[in-house]
Amino acid sequence: MALAAINSEKIPNNVHLSDDKRLQRALEKWQPKFLSWWQDMGPEGFQANDVYLRTAISVDRDGWAHFGHVKMPDYRWGIFLSEAEKDREIGFGDNIGTPAWQEVPGEHRNALKRLIVTQGDTEPASVEQQRLLGQTCPSLYDLRNLFQVNVEEGRHLWAMVYLLQSYFGRDGREEAEGLLERRSGDVDKPRILTTFNEPIADWLSFFMFTNFTDKDGKYQLLSLAESGFDPLARTARFMLTEEAHHMFVGVTGVERVVRRTCELMKEYDTDDVKPYGGIPLDLIQKYINFWYASSLDLFGAEKSSNAANYFAAGLKGRAWEMKKYDEHTAMNDYYDMTVLEDGRLTHSDIPLRNAMNEVLRDRYIEDNEKSTEKWNREVAKHGIDYQFKLASKRFHRTVGIYAGHTFNLQGELISQEEYKSKLDSWIPTEDEKVFVRSLMQQVIEPGKCAAWIAPPKKGINQNPFEFEYVKL
Ligand SMILES: [Fe+2]
Ligand SMILES: [Fe+2]
Repeated sequence: MALAAINSEKIPNNVHLSDDKRLQRALEKWQPKFLSWWQDMGPEGFQANDVYLRTAISVDRDGWAHFGHVKMPDYRWGIFLSEAEKDREIGFGDNIGTPAWQEVPGEHRNALKRLIVTQGDTEPASVEQQRLLGQTCPSLYDLRNLFQVNVEEGRHLWAMVYLLQSYFGRDGREEAEGLLERRSGDVDKPRILTTFNEPIADWLSFFMFTNFTDKDGKYQLLSLAESGFDPLARTARFMLTEEAHHMFVGVTGVERVVRRTCELMKEYDTDDVKPYGGIPLDLIQKYINFWYASSLDLFGAEKSSNAANYFAAGLKGRAWEMKKYDEHTAMNDYYDMTVLEDGRLTHSDIPLRNAMNEVLRDRYIEDNEKSTEKWNREVAKHGIDYQFKLASKRFHRTVGIYAGHTFNLQGELISQEEYKSKLDSWIPTEDEKVFVRSLMQQVIEPGKCAAWIAPPKKGINQNPFEFEYVKL
């Protein structure tokens, strides 16, 4: 690809890229590395096919969702910030009421860089995790949705790299390189967060991931959208518009699996739909248990001095800080936390700033209750007596105060022996994963759908399900 092609034509943007020679040069050096990463670690196959993709070409109502068939390597990964708010002030923490930063404040440089790198690392990681899924797609519609998610995660990487290269000088450029060097699941150079090193080997896991893990992304972005560092806030705000589709893919994906299972249960009058090529409801529940717990970990420790510092400095707020809260210093308030003391559960009042990770996690949990309700409505429609439930936030955690202790699904402390003996009934076993993978047969005929999942109720952008979403 000709490097000279880097301009507002090739990289749609609203950051006046053509006026900033230094930034343009930095991106010119980074772009071929990104493209070679995309070829190596992006979707396996289909790179030469036309895919019906949504491309953001501006941030206004008409421009951000531009649909058309493009080859993935020709996708125009753009750089967009939401419109600036005039005279924006820092809305929370110790710097409340002072002008929002347009440049990185020296004393918060490292903290901001860490927040941006951590967020940025998740974007290419998920593309790597999903790279083989095209081989087993249940329909062309799903294949297209997978690729839409992939190219947008690529764009989110661009968004974070833009911030690093514009505002963090030489070490920003080094971090931008590092984002292309780590690899999901790699022993020597893994991605930063554990969930982003978990393999996504089947489409049920993909739907769980886009529901639970992309939704963690939503909450991280909501908290960064409040940041006093204005370019980060505006970047996060725009990313949220795209993230909504990723969660749609997840929640409706699981719903369609549930629908198909219910249909098979009625047709054959049995709970065990495995012989008929369906995924039993209690196995779907086990996938929920696994991915939900893993995604809860992403919010970090319950008690966190980092979280307190980020809030105090005005770097990372609560979700909807300005809209949903009246008091923005969080100074004299406490969070009633369930903690472990002398081997039992008890309550402790934690200074609110130190509990900011937990506050964000609670909003996330409420949001997940809604997806569970949606799936339960689908079950109820078939007149089947079964309910999906979210486990306690203490179950199966590997980060924070509950990690290293053993809890059942209800969050009760149990012995290690009991935990070990029951874990196979709570999260998918190897055999069950093998079974789910055995159902994953590629279906790429327009209008056809694999047998383990129901077709969607409608297509993308008013097109029917039968539309040729990927031209083969
Ligand atoms: Fe993303
Ligand atoms: Fe996403």
